[in-house]
Amino acid sequence: MEEVIQINGGNTLSGEVYVSGAKNSAVALIPATLMASNGEVTLKGLPNISDVETLVSLLEDLEIKTSLSNNTLTVNAENAENIPLPNEKVESLRASYYMMGAMLGRFKKVVIGQPGGCHLGPRPIDQHIKGFEALGAEVTNEHGALHLVAEELVGAKIFFDVVSVGATINVMLAASMAKGRTVLENVAREPEIIDVATLLNKMGANIKGAGTETIRIEGVESLNGASHTIIPDRIEAGSYISLAAAIGDEVKVKNVIPEHLEALFSKLEEAGVELEIDDDDVIVRRSEKLKPVQLKTQVYPGFATDLQQPITPLLFLADDTSKITETVYPARFRHIDELRRMNANVENKGGSVFIHPSTLSGTDVYASDLRAGFCLVIAGLMAEGTTTIYNIHHIMRGYSNIIKKLEQLGADIKLVERE
Ligand code: EPZ
Repeated sequence: MEEVIQINGGNTLSGEVYVSGAKNSAVALIPATLMASNGEVTLKGLPNISDVETLVSLLEDLEIKTSLSNNTLTVNAENAENIPLPNEKVESLRASYYMMGAMLGRFKKVVIGQPGGCHLGPRPIDQHIKGFEALGAEVTNEHGALHLVAEELVGAKIFFDVVSVGATINVMLAASMAKGRTVLENVAREPEIIDVATLLNKMGANIKGAGTETIRIEGVESLNGASHTIIPDRIEAGSYISLAAAIGDEVKVKNVIPEHLEALFSKLEEAGVELEIDDDDVIVRRSEKLKPVQLKTQVYPGFATDLQQPITPLLFLADDTSKITETVYPARFRHIDELRRMNANVENKGGSVFIHPSTLSGTDVYASDLRAGFCLVIAGLMAEGTTTIYNIHHIMRGYSNIIKKLEQLGADIKLVERE
């Protein structure tokens, strides 16, 4: 038996939707908690997603005490044990790689399986390894598990060859407990990096410059308990805003930090979508006449690669051809074949997708990754007839309470069991 999402399309959505805590922050904040050797760390506002549950269970594998209820996680890692983690759980999500930086910082030794996660084409972690080695760790791959060992971690100057969210956070985690000063250059500037640095500083770390191109860290010997509320998920917000632009009558998306979504807002306004942007919410009004747009995904604050799939269905409603060029993950187009099954007129040529005006029609489709999954949900809601989405574990990894949130907006959507 497999759970699938079944959608009867054609309803116009209206009302309010509340954005949960940021997945890509949560998946780094949870590993960071294991670095506190004194006191409890409390994380508030966590999303209700399977990636959170998996990471909490990895903490428990290290004999760490955790309690998760009402989106609040309390962690007491005082008696944490350094146990090898070469298991299925590590391979079920990409962000398990943050266990490396956190465990290396605290224990100076880690044995861990290879990270898994969404298939977006090649996703190397060479920059993470380069950073750990620069701090003094020896990294080897033994029978598929990574072994990271350091006599001691010593601060270093590291210039990343690639601007990477994961490498920036991972090396920041380890360096916060290295001896002396680390300077990280050519780092990513995503809001999630600032969120992780904020928690680490509350725990006693000394990190400056998160959110800029250079991060300076004075290492400390130990970290303590702290309490932190996670930032709202800008990608979840952007996903619901894109959905509302396509099939909303008037939808209010609440708990948004508008500064995190400027690239999306500018493209939506260029397309003719009416947005009313307030301090922490956005009202989206659908426009009858939409214009095509051209966009390129880029590192923050450019247009997020995580939003190119959710914005695609909206562009079928424009009166001419739109073009999306993917520069971060050039192979992140596995949703295109699925959209074609839904009658979409869309082509993938040389790292770009050309989206022609189309009327979608419901059928069976397969989610290849998290954001492809949300793209198919929007397409299903727009389409005539019934759409059944398979492989929905990808969607459940990252969209908190998705069925409930969409039902509240008036969508005809449900989970059903299939043979
Ligand atoms: C993060 O992945 C996000 N995941 C991704 O979100 C997001 O798509 C991506 O950043 C880009 O914004 C998490 O935060 C858990 P990167 P990450 O390292 O950190 C190359 C979603 O849907 N690279 O910034 O793994 C890499 O191949 C997901 O929520 C190297 O070459 O991405 C890519 O082309 C999926 N070597 C580029 O850098 C490295 O060592 C950016 O990747 C690391 C990365």
